[in-house]
Amino acid sequence: MLTLADVERMTREDGEGWGYAHVCRVLKLTSIIGVDLDYDREAVVWAVHLHDWGAFPRHRQPGIDHALRSRQIAEQDILPQAALTAHQAALILEAIEKHDYRDERPVTMPEALVLREADFLDFLGVIGIVREFAWGPNNLQVCYERILARREIIQARFTLPIAQQIATQRLETMQWALERLFEESRGDL
Ligand SMILES: [Fe+2]
Ligand SMILES: [Fe+2]
Repeated sequence: MLTLADVERMTREDGEGWGYAHVCRVLKLTSIIGVDLDYDREAVVWAVHLHDWGAFPRHRQPGIDHALRSRQIAEQDILPQAALTAHQAALILEAIEKHDYRDERPVTMPEALVLREADFLDFLGVIGIVREFAWGPNNLQVCYERILARREIIQARFTLPIAQQIATQRLETMQWALERLFEESRGDL
Protein backbone atom coordinates (compact mmCIF):
# COMPACT_ATOMS: atom_id res chain seq x y z
CA MET A 1 0.00 0.00 0.00
CA LEU A 2 1.28 3.48 -0.88
CA THR A 3 0.62 6.33 1.51
CA LEU A 4 0.73 10.08 0.98
CA ALA A 5 4.02 10.10 2.90
CA ASP A 6 5.48 7.75 0.27
CA VAL A 7 4.26 9.97 -2.55
CA GLU A 8 5.69 13.01 -0.79
CA ARG A 9 9.07 11.27 -0.43
CA MET A 10 9.07 10.23 -4.09
CA THR A 11 8.19 13.78 -5.17
CA ARG A 12 11.13 15.05 -3.12
CA GLU A 13 13.51 12.42 -4.53
CA ASP A 14 12.53 12.65 -8.19
CA GLY A 15 11.52 16.29 -8.55
CA GLU A 16 15.01 17.70 -9.14
CA GLY A 17 15.46 21.03 -7.39
CA TRP A 18 12.04 22.38 -8.25
CA GLY A 19 9.35 19.70 -7.98
CA TYR A 20 8.75 19.42 -4.27
CA ALA A 21 8.92 23.15 -3.51
CA HIS A 22 6.47 23.78 -6.37
CA VAL A 23 4.12 21.19 -4.85
CA CYS A 24 4.35 22.89 -1.45
CA ARG A 25 3.50 26.28 -2.96
CA VAL A 26 0.62 24.88 -5.01
CA LEU A 27 -0.75 23.05 -1.96
CA LYS A 28 -0.87 26.31 0.02
CA LEU A 29 -2.52 28.10 -2.89
CA THR A 30 -5.19 25.39 -3.27
CA SER A 31 -6.26 25.87 0.35
CA ILE A 32 -6.42 29.64 -0.10
CA ILE A 33 -8.31 29.75 -3.39
CA GLY A 34 -10.56 26.81 -2.53
CA VAL A 35 -11.52 27.97 0.95
CA ASP A 36 -15.19 28.52 0.04
CA LEU A 37 -15.54 25.48 -2.19
CA ASP A 38 -16.92 22.08 -1.37
CA TYR A 39 -14.42 19.60 -2.72
CA ASP A 40 -12.49 16.48 -1.80
CA ARG A 41 -9.40 17.88 -0.09
CA GLU A 42 -7.67 14.52 0.18
CA ALA A 43 -8.01 13.98 -3.58
CA VAL A 44 -6.55 17.42 -4.27
CA VAL A 45 -3.54 16.82 -2.03
CA TRP A 46 -2.76 13.62 -3.97
CA ALA A 47 -3.34 15.34 -7.31
CA VAL A 48 -1.06 18.26 -6.40
CA HIS A 49 1.75 15.87 -5.47
CA LEU A 50 1.40 13.85 -8.66
CA HIS A 51 0.52 16.51 -11.23
CA ASP A 52 4.03 17.16 -12.61
CA TRP A 53 5.63 13.74 -12.22
CA GLY A 54 5.49 13.38 -15.99
CA ALA A 55 8.01 16.25 -16.23
CA PHE A 56 10.50 14.61 -13.83
CA PRO A 57 13.58 13.00 -15.46
CA ARG A 58 12.68 9.60 -14.01
CA HIS A 59 9.29 9.58 -15.73
CA ARG A 60 9.22 11.96 -18.67
CA GLN A 61 8.94 10.57 -22.16
CA PRO A 62 9.77 12.53 -25.29
CA GLY A 63 6.71 13.36 -27.36
CA ILE A 64 4.26 12.81 -24.52
CA ASP A 65 2.75 15.88 -22.91
CA HIS A 66 3.83 16.06 -19.27
CA ALA A 67 0.27 16.28 -17.92
CA LEU A 68 -0.80 13.18 -19.81
CA ARG A 69 2.38 11.37 -18.71
CA SER A 70 1.66 12.35 -15.08
CA ARG A 71 -1.81 10.90 -15.47
CA GLN A 72 -0.41 7.64 -16.88
CA ILE A 73 1.98 7.20 -13.94
CA ALA A 74 -0.75 7.96 -11.40
CA GLU A 75 -3.21 5.63 -13.10
CA GLN A 76 -0.85 2.72 -13.67
CA ASP A 77 1.64 2.83 -10.83
CA ILE A 78 0.40 4.91 -7.93
CA LEU A 79 -3.36 5.06 -7.43
CA PRO A 80 -3.97 1.29 -7.67
CA GLN A 81 -1.75 0.96 -4.60
CA ALA A 82 -3.36 3.79 -2.63
CA ALA A 83 -6.22 3.55 -0.14
CA LEU A 84 -8.51 5.84 -2.10
CA THR A 85 -11.98 5.27 -3.51
CA ALA A 86 -12.58 4.80 -7.24
CA HIS A 87 -14.35 8.16 -7.25
CA GLN A 88 -11.35 9.87 -5.66
CA ALA A 89 -9.02 8.22 -8.17
CA ALA A 90 -11.18 9.52 -11.02
CA LEU A 91 -11.10 13.06 -9.58
CA ILE A 92 -7.33 12.92 -9.19
CA LEU A 93 -6.75 11.67 -12.75
CA GLU A 94 -9.00 14.33 -14.26
CA ALA A 95 -7.31 17.08 -12.25
CA ILE A 96 -3.83 15.91 -13.23
CA GLU A 97 -4.59 15.48 -16.91
CA LYS A 98 -6.17 18.91 -17.32
CA HIS A 99 -3.94 20.99 -15.05
CA ASP A 100 -1.78 22.65 -17.70
CA TYR A 101 -2.63 26.24 -18.67
CA ARG A 102 -2.30 25.36 -22.35
CA ASP A 103 -5.09 22.79 -22.05
CA GLU A 104 -8.23 24.53 -23.25
CA ARG A 105 -10.64 21.75 -22.38
CA PRO A 106 -13.28 22.91 -19.92
CA VAL A 107 -12.91 21.84 -16.33
CA THR A 108 -15.93 21.69 -14.09
CA MET A 109 -14.98 19.60 -11.08
CA PRO A 110 -13.78 21.84 -8.22
CA GLU A 111 -10.86 19.47 -7.56
CA ALA A 112 -9.52 20.07 -11.07
CA LEU A 113 -10.23 23.80 -10.88
CA VAL A 114 -8.35 24.42 -7.65
CA LEU A 115 -5.32 22.45 -8.84
CA ARG A 116 -5.07 24.16 -12.22
CA GLU A 117 -5.71 27.69 -10.93
CA ALA A 118 -3.20 27.24 -8.08
CA ASP A 119 -0.71 25.99 -10.66
CA PHE A 120 -1.44 29.02 -12.90
CA LEU A 121 -0.74 31.35 -9.97
CA ASP A 122 2.71 29.84 -9.47
CA PHE A 123 3.63 31.21 -12.93
CA LEU A 124 2.76 34.77 -11.90
CA GLY A 125 4.41 37.34 -9.64
CA VAL A 126 8.07 37.37 -8.71
CA ILE A 127 7.98 33.61 -8.17
CA GLY A 128 6.78 33.20 -11.76
CA ILE A 129 9.66 35.36 -13.01
CA VAL A 130 12.39 33.56 -11.07
CA ARG A 131 11.04 30.14 -12.09
CA GLU A 132 11.40 31.11 -15.75
CA PHE A 133 14.99 32.26 -15.33
CA ALA A 134 15.80 29.10 -13.39
CA TRP A 135 14.54 27.03 -16.31
CA GLY A 136 16.98 28.72 -18.61
CA PRO A 137 18.51 28.81 -21.10
CA ASN A 138 21.23 31.21 -19.95
CA ASN A 139 19.82 33.86 -22.25
CA LEU A 140 17.85 36.50 -20.41
CA GLN A 141 16.04 37.74 -23.51
CA VAL A 142 14.71 34.27 -24.29
CA CYS A 143 13.47 33.80 -20.71
CA TYR A 144 11.99 37.30 -20.66
CA GLU A 145 10.01 36.69 -23.83
CA ARG A 146 8.73 33.38 -22.45
CA ILE A 147 7.54 35.18 -19.31
CA LEU A 148 5.53 37.63 -21.40
CA ALA A 149 4.05 34.88 -23.59
CA ARG A 150 3.02 32.73 -20.63
CA ARG A 151 1.59 35.68 -18.72
CA GLU A 152 -0.49 36.64 -21.74
CA ILE A 153 -2.22 33.27 -21.84
CA ILE A 154 -2.52 32.64 -18.11
CA GLN A 155 -3.98 35.99 -17.08
CA ALA A 156 -7.24 35.31 -18.89
CA ARG A 157 -7.73 31.81 -17.52
CA PHE A 158 -8.85 32.33 -13.90
CA THR A 159 -12.41 31.60 -12.82
CA LEU A 160 -12.26 31.26 -9.01
CA PRO A 161 -12.79 34.67 -7.31
CA ILE A 162 -9.92 34.38 -4.81
CA ALA A 163 -7.59 33.12 -7.54
CA GLN A 164 -8.57 36.13 -9.64
CA GLN A 165 -7.77 38.49 -6.75
CA ILE A 166 -4.36 36.92 -6.16
CA ALA A 167 -3.69 36.93 -9.91
CA THR A 168 -4.44 40.66 -10.09
CA GLN A 169 -1.96 41.37 -7.27
CA ARG A 170 0.69 39.12 -8.79
CA LEU A 171 0.27 40.67 -12.23
CA GLU A 172 0.84 44.12 -10.75
CA THR A 173 3.97 42.98 -8.90
CA MET A 174 5.17 41.20 -12.01
CA GLN A 175 4.67 44.29 -14.16
CA TRP A 176 6.56 46.40 -11.64
CA ALA A 177 9.45 43.90 -11.50
CA LEU A 178 9.67 43.56 -15.28
CA GLU A 179 9.72 47.34 -15.68
CA ARG A 180 12.63 47.55 -13.21
CA LEU A 181 14.41 44.79 -15.11
CA PHE A 182 13.99 46.68 -18.36
CA GLU A 183 15.08 49.94 -16.75
CA GLU A 184 18.20 48.52 -15.09
CA SER A 185 19.27 46.63 -18.19
CA ARG A 186 18.32 49.55 -20.46
CA GLY A 187 16.74 46.98 -22.71
CA ASP A 188 19.89 44.86 -23.08
CA LEU A 189 18.96 41.51 -21.69
FE1 LIG B 1 2.52 21.03 -15.08
FE1 LIG C 1 2.82 22.38 -11.81
